[in-house]
Amino acid sequence: RKTAPLPDDIRARKGGVPIVSLTAYTTPMAQLMDAQCDFVLVGDSVGMVLHGLESTLGVTLDMMILHGRAVKRGLNHAMMVVDMPFGSYEESCEQAFRNAARIMAETGAGAVKLEGGVGMAGTIAFLVGRGIPVMAHIGLTPQSINTLGGYKVQGRGAAGDALLGDARAVADAGAFAVVLEKVPAVLADRVTQDIAIPTIGIGASAGCDGQILVVDDMLGLFTAFKPKFVKRYATLGAQAEAAIAAYASEVRARAFPAPEHIFADTQPEALK
Ligand code: KIV
Ligand code: NA
Repeated sequence: RKTAPLPDDIRARKGGVPIVSLTAYTTPMAQLMDAQCDFVLVGDSVGMVLHGLESTLGVTLDMMILHGRAVKRGLNHAMMVVDMPFGSYEESCEQAFRNAARIMAETGAGAVKLEGGVGMAGTIAFLVGRGIPVMAHIGLTPQSINTLGGYKVQGRGAAGDALLGDARAVADAGAFAVVLEKVPAVLADRVTQDIAIPTIGIGASAGCDGQILVVDDMLGLFTAFKPKFVKRYATLGAQAEAAIAAYASEVRARAFPAPEHIFADTQPEALK
């Protein structure tokens, strides 16, 4: 693939080869995943993963734009989606458009993502109708943690019908894809069969049209906690810790720097 896919290209992947995506927050990590990912999400998880925040509620529009600009510099092939942070879109369609337009213009994102189903359908239609592609995010929506009452599985039992209603609402509103977070696999499969846009699963089902993970989770770099749905493909955090410990002991023993790391004297003969 020569150029980044457009939101319509992602939409057209419905029912086909699964869509591959990860989060990224920095240029070098974006470069590492660019060739493998169909899209890269600059998630508001950046607040917890890189800034030490307790939740995503403290993430600002300026943070998302700064990290969006950094990630864009590392991408040549994958599309970039940037999360709209808490408080930047819920108030009105106009507020959502103003802030989404800033994200698009200042970062070069191909689309924005926002959290919410039926309640955000009007906002999604307003943005899409004005030229801003939107990825929706339903199920566990971390910006609503204070009303959801914890990071628990969503849509269990009778609540499954409401989640299906959310999925239908965002699809009808014009979202080009929808993230399903932390929902029962049978429900994720039911939603995937029911709606015409791709479902992107995280803690959902292998039957979704695509998958996403937080990159620091799957690399074992972020280890403060590990949700059940995270698979660690590497243990880079432990490797970094060991490397730092080795450096510290070599400095204390004057074993670093070694001869190959230091510079020869090049003073003129006459001054020696
Ligand atoms: O912020 C984030 O990382 C996300 C993904 C987990 C979907 O929204
Ligand atoms: Na997010």
